[in-house]
Amino acid sequence: MQYRIDSARARAIYDSRGRPTIEVELRAGTTVGRGIAPAGASTGAFEAHELRDPLHYGVSRACAAFAAEIAPALIGADCRDQQRIDTRLIALDATPQRSRLGGNTLIATSLAVLQTAAAAAGEPLWRHLATQNDLTMPLPEIQIIGGGAHAQGRIDLQDIMVLPVGAPDWPTALQWCARVYHSLAGILADAGQLRGVADEGGFWPDVAGNEAVLELTVAAIEKAGLRPLDDVAISLDVAANQFARDGGYHLRADAANFTGAQWVEQLARWCRRYPIVLVEDPCAEDDRAHYAAFRTQLHGLRGDARIVGDDLVVTNAARIDQAVHDGLIDAALIKPNQAGTITEAHAALMRCESHNILPIVSARSGETEDTTVMHLAVGWQAPLIKVGSITRGERTAKWNEGLRIAEQLQGGGVIRPLPARH
Ligand code: PGA
Ligand code: ZN
Repeated sequence: MQYRIDSARARAIYDSRGRPTIEVELRAGTTVGRGIAPAGASTGAFEAHELRDPLHYGVSRACAAFAAEIAPALIGADCRDQQRIDTRLIALDATPQRSRLGGNTLIATSLAVLQTAAAAAGEPLWRHLATQNDLTMPLPEIQIIGGGAHAQGRIDLQDIMVLPVGAPDWPTALQWCARVYHSLAGILADAGQLRGVADEGGFWPDVAGNEAVLELTVAAIEKAGLRPLDDVAISLDVAANQFARDGGYHLRADAANFTGAQWVEQLARWCRRYPIVLVEDPCAEDDRAHYAAFRTQLHGLRGDARIVGDDLVVTNAARIDQAVHDGLIDAALIKPNQAGTITEAHAALMRCESHNILPIVSARSGETEDTTVMHLAVGWQAPLIKVGSITRGERTAKWNEGLRIAEQLQGGGVIRPLPARH
């Protein structure tokens, strides 16, 4: 079997928002491996920068940078040397946030190297990455309503997700979430509020204000014949960066301005009233005092509730260290393109484990049919995965790949219950 990379090219393909994105294709003998960069719409200030053309979101500069500087460095390399290649990519870029060659160029390359190594070894990626035999499936966070930057600010909360905490296995988890999704469709249709979907396939919220979506979600869980909290809980991505203004929070859908302290109170009120167990980015990434204050309040409300850092920590091991040290988070999203290489994303995940917080492997709002994140979540044994809704091909590609993987695991894809909070 040949592991030496002997051909490397990049091309522009299209993502789920119809925007170009870079795909890298490598060959080692007859083996082919591809990597595709996803794209975020609500990004953290410290994540890897995308290299895009001035017009039309183009990636021709990214593809040109690949051809001129990265491809020559890859030819002849052993595709199993992931860490060495990633270190080389970081050195070639030589900027703190990968802005010269582009985080998109780097992650597409890094993922292509990984896929080539798995294919050359004749293994599916999840098995190639796994370090143990008794593998379990992650718990999926599945979006049912989309807001914020994914729905032109129609509501301020970005992701209203369901978390099938009581589901014993992957097929049941997906089935429960699909039932809730369809129940909500029925409720919205009956009320004349069914309008279509946001960027990740969750319903576009035609509602009176932010709290209404929480009310609707509980109603949908009950209508699906499931018990709120015990079977299916709510996970919220507040993505508060998007509506932080002048040291406070401006909620357009509620026509209300909050100080940091008032905003934390408001969120806590919602968490008391609704079965919310995960809250992502409750405050802006630079509002660490209120981030911490909200975590303390949330811990007092419910023993199993957790704060998730996304824009706050941007898949960066050092930022995860600092956030844990400052008492801000109980979990962190792991988005490979926020880091720029698979080696750095894996280091961030390992750092979560060493701090006893939960890593959540996550897709972006701009995605393709690529299923790599599902393989990473299983191979790395992440406790949770976040991919968007249960509709739209770029989302179902991942969930359905999970069904295929689950079939091959002992017990048909048992979901490991989340450990107690630390
Ligand atoms: P993004 O949103 O991919 O648009 O950044 C996802 C998230 O905030 O978790
Ligand atoms: Zn987020």
